[in-house]
Amino acid sequence: MLKPETIAIIKSTVPVLEVHGKAITTRFYEKLFKSHPELLNLFNHGNQKQGRQQTALANAVYAAAVHIDRLHEIMPAVKGIAHKHVSLGVTPEQYPIVGENLLAAISEVLGDAATPEILGAWEEAYSVIAAAFIGVETEMRMRRSISRGAGRDSASLRCRRKRRKAGTSRRFTWCRRTGERWHLSSRVNM
Ligand code: HEM
Repeated sequence: MLKPETIAIIKSTVPVLEVHGKAITTRFYEKLFKSHPELLNLFNHGNQKQGRQQTALANAVYAAAVHIDRLHEIMPAVKGIAHKHVSLGVTPEQYPIVGENLLAAISEVLGDAATPEILGAWEEAYSVIAAAFIGVETEMRMRRSISRGAGRDSASLRCRRKRRKAGTSRRFTWCRRTGERWHLSSRVNM
């Protein structure tokens, strides 16, 4: 939980971010891709060129800053972004990389106005926001792997033969697939 003083600093810097938001995120991406060129492939460069992603990220940062003491109110938006992150394969380990470059960009663009107090408050706020995203995304990944696992399991088991035997009785033969081969799993007479 953030201290009231930290929340006050974050909220008072929102107008500053509104003025410099786009410059900060543009600088942020330059720094991010220079220090971590492996992340270049993750981002859609069509969006980058047209500035769509810059605006989206700036807006998400403002929204989080304004709602820093009641992040639950922006959870629907967080979940929407988290879906995109999960589908693209964003990992928890990438959050500190983004945070470090974002802080460095804020510091560079704001210059002397970025006091250690302001930067410290933003560092704390970013970790709270990142923790919310990481939590939602981890849950989404777990749900996905559980539902995929269930799908695979039922697909690997199938009823091979239903034979009428001795009048009304039927024999069901279940087979389990291991790789390309089917093996007898169980027989049930009904
Ligand atoms: C708290 C931190 C973060 C915030 C607030 C944030 C915010 C956003 C927003 C608002 C979008 C646009 C969603 C949409 O178009 O529907 C987005 C997309 C994206 N984010 Fe994040 N993000 C964060 C962290 C990260 C991290 C750690 C990575 C991994 C390096 C990442 C990678 C991406 C990518 C690859 C896209 C898609 C961009 C594209 O289409 O070019 N984000 N993010």
